[in-house]
Amino acid sequence: MNIGLLGFGFVGQGFQQLVSEKYWLGLHVRQIGVKDPAKPRPALGIPFSTDPNVLLAEDSLDILVEAIPALDEAYQFVKAALQRGKHVVSANKRMLAHHLPELSALARGNGVQLRYEAAVGGAIPVLTALGGYFQTEVVTEIRAIVNGTSNYVLTKMADEGLAYADVVKAAQALGFAEADPTLDVGGYDPKFKIILLAAQAWGTWAAPDAVLNLGIQPLGVHELDLARAQGLRIKLVSSAKRTADGRVQLSVLPAFLRPDDVLFPIREEINAIHIQGQASGPHLFVGRGAGSLPTGTAVLADVRAVQLGQTLQLPAMATTPLDSSANVQLYLRTGQASLVEKLGLEVSAVRDGAYLGTTSIGKLLQHVTEVRASGAFLATVPQGFSLTANSPAVAARA
Ligand SMILES: NC(=O)c1ccc[n+]([C@@H]2O[C@H](COP(=O)([O-])OP(=O)(O)OC[C@H]3O[C@@H](n4cnc5c(N)ncnc54)[C@H](OP(=O)(O)O)[C@@H]3O)[C@@H](O)[C@H]2O)c1
Repeated sequence: MNIGLLGFGFVGQGFQQLVSEKYWLGLHVRQIGVKDPAKPRPALGIPFSTDPNVLLAEDSLDILVEAIPALDEAYQFVKAALQRGKHVVSANKRMLAHHLPELSALARGNGVQLRYEAAVGGAIPVLTALGGYFQTEVVTEIRAIVNGTSNYVLTKMADEGLAYADVVKAAQALGFAEADPTLDVGGYDPKFKIILLAAQAWGTWAAPDAVLNLGIQPLGVHELDLARAQGLRIKLVSSAKRTADGRVQLSVLPAFLRPDDVLFPIREEINAIHIQGQASGPHLFVGRGAGSLPTGTAVLADVRAVQLGQTLQLPAMATTPLDSSANVQLYLRTGQASLVEKLGLEVSAVRDGAYLGTTSIGKLLQHVTEVRASGAFLATVPQGFSLTANSPAVAARA
């Protein structure tokens, strides 16, 4: 099977290496598309081109792998590939989260596959599970840590007292941070992933702008002290829940987690996706959410599935109105009392510019730009959470 590969960075190189090592699979990368004509390329015996049309026009290519960070170029490329009847495997969650309904309809209409396992949990085969095993099981809720960079930053800050900026730089050097770290630490990347997970689980798609995401950038020593004193950990948690009337609640928020939370032990750049099945109960998928070879492995698995004619059931996409009425118990640290009012926070405790209270996801979404601009830190809290760093452990009290 002949493959055209767009993008030769962490993901593209990992994939190409695995294809060449596992030569017996009968997969061949025939063309590689890149951006920078001046960059030196390894002598692989495979032509490099800076014109993606070269890949699109090549009839002998059966499948195109798209592994570039760009949004619009990737969308145009994948769309054109599907229109020309090529199978596509993509790692680009940002592009997929924005254009999934159109692209999945195009794939269906042209009788080809659009697969993107690597885009969601890196190496974790969660879409394969949702599209297979969970075809006959009802998923009621998904909670996930699906941003390796944020989890790495949170782990290093909490355990080693390292400064935020230094840890972000280290994550970039290790190859699992996006070039623009705001996508990671601002909660955008995990938002794209929870949108794709919800789409696979329920066939409901939500536009990224309609989904609440707040990040970990304003996290301070104060929150780390509060968490440590109460035996908690701070994580960036993506949530998706299906309501009784078939609507979906989606959000990405920092959270103080108790030790008995399944996501509590997930450390460093490791990802975890917790799926609640109606009859089968809880399932926890844990693995490497990023990195060259882990992500390359997921791309290879998708390509191999296409080669073997194995299809993945992708539900027909419907744009379902989100349910933003759910209330959340929040910790909010802000110097602006007016923000507390705007968010409609029903305050139960205040101490040193930090508030505990309840409000709805809808209220947070309505004022999300102001929350971000204000530098406020906001996180969900478990029952028994206290604003004093010398309070007894929440776990012991609960
Ligand atoms: N890194 C991970 O662990 C990971 C995990 C899961 C998913 N992803 C996703 O996979 C994609 C690639 O990530 P990466 O980490 O491999 O990126 P990367 O290391 O920055 O490499 C990007 C590659 O894409 C090429 N490129 C960029 N814009 C292009 C354009 N407009 N046309 C053609 N080629 C272009 C670059 O060309 P040059 O070589 O000329 O610069 C480079 O080869 C992204 O969508 C990312 O979100 C990454």
